[in-house]
Amino acid sequence: MNNFNFQNPTRIIFGKGTIADLKQQVAADAKVLILYGGGSAERTGVLGQVRDALADYSLVEFGGIEPNPRYATAMKAVEVIKENNIDFLLAVGGGSVIDATKFIAAAAKYEGDAWDILTSGGKVISQALPFGSVLTLPATGSEMNAGGVITNAEKGAKLPFGSPLCYPLFSVLDPEVTYTLPPRQLANGVADAFVHIIEQYLTYPSAAYVQDGFAESLLRTLIELGPKALETPKDYDIRANLMWTATLALNGLIGAGVPHDWASHMIGHEITALNDTDHARTLAVVLPALMNDQREPKREKLLQYASNVWGITEGTEEARIDAVIEATRNFFEQLGIKTRLGDYGIAAAEIEIIVAALEAHGMTALGEHQAITPTDARRILEAAL
Ligand code: NZQ
Ligand code: ZN
Repeated sequence: MNNFNFQNPTRIIFGKGTIADLKQQVAADAKVLILYGGGSAERTGVLGQVRDALADYSLVEFGGIEPNPRYATAMKAVEVIKENNIDFLLAVGGGSVIDATKFIAAAAKYEGDAWDILTSGGKVISQALPFGSVLTLPATGSEMNAGGVITNAEKGAKLPFGSPLCYPLFSVLDPEVTYTLPPRQLANGVADAFVHIIEQYLTYPSAAYVQDGFAESLLRTLIELGPKALETPKDYDIRANLMWTATLALNGLIGAGVPHDWASHMIGHEITALNDTDHARTLAVVLPALMNDQREPKREKLLQYASNVWGITEGTEEARIDAVIEATRNFFEQLGIKTRLGDYGIAAAEIEIIVAALEAHGMTALGEHQAITPTDARRILEAAL
């Protein structure tokens, strides 16, 4: 196992009715900006619950944060913060709202051009406003990690950033607020969390037995409960387990001391930047093709994944690897997520644009061995057509 520092300062408040407990989390004299998305939080009553819980506070609201949140929208929120002397942010929504809030928290305190935050991957962040979140969509893990992804439509770029100053102080996870999720968003969330686990697990053996065991347990939970959640929209136990799984998938726990991949994510971000395909759907396209392409460097872990997660133990190594790649693809399809580029209107001609964007963004040495070059990415994308 590699050396690591592990610290996660985010407090989790989990369970039914917990939005009412917000008051205990926010200082009484805070001037709070509530940030939300395109209106689901209003329609579902979550914003109403938040307003009720914080009725005694000085509140300002900022809505309209898009899925795949936009830089220009985030900068408008920074203006609102400055005009109103806001000193605490509360994100109410999914990964997009929470990611945007992280960026806004840092941009509000940044002296130079806030675009630097993204081109530096967050390295220039030296201060950020404190913030918390009320999560409405289990998927990204943003509620308990320090990273985010922001899209700049004008520049055709979707860039990740992270900083220890960007952990939420707290996140409220009430599984009941996920009952209103459309099937597409629920399926996206399951697939995104699944690929987060895979990116930290399906690399090469590093004698990290506990992390491997946790990762396999989280994967099996998603395989069992993901399809069931789509069939039974108001089953509390299923929603609760999915929500906690998605958080644990990307809060640092299973990623401590192990090699990381993230190539599917980096390639997927460029697909989203190209045509706004949902984040999780880009992953469901790239991952099966990448697993097949990278079967040599990933051989040992592919066989472990086949055996411990899917119970595939019979046949030659090649046959077991084929079978587990097929099982993974079928899992996404079973969730209603298509796994070919063509399903998202992308043909061979667009692959060059995606590869050029990877190069332009310095994504030229991807994967756990930093060995996936743009040429490899092109081959993987061609196999995903
Ligand atoms: O915008 P509103 O109206 O709120 O509707 C949202 C949005 O349309 C809707 N929604 C959310 N909660 C709902 C709901 N509808 C009904 N009932 C509810 N309870 O769902 C739609 C999608 O929301 P979004 O926040 O965009 O989805 P998600 O949580 O999947 O976040 C995706 C973003 O997170 C980034 C992705 O790149 C993408 O930009 N990621 C962030 C990561 C991180 N911070 O660690 C890691 C991930 O790999 C990912 O890259
Ligand atoms: Zn993701």
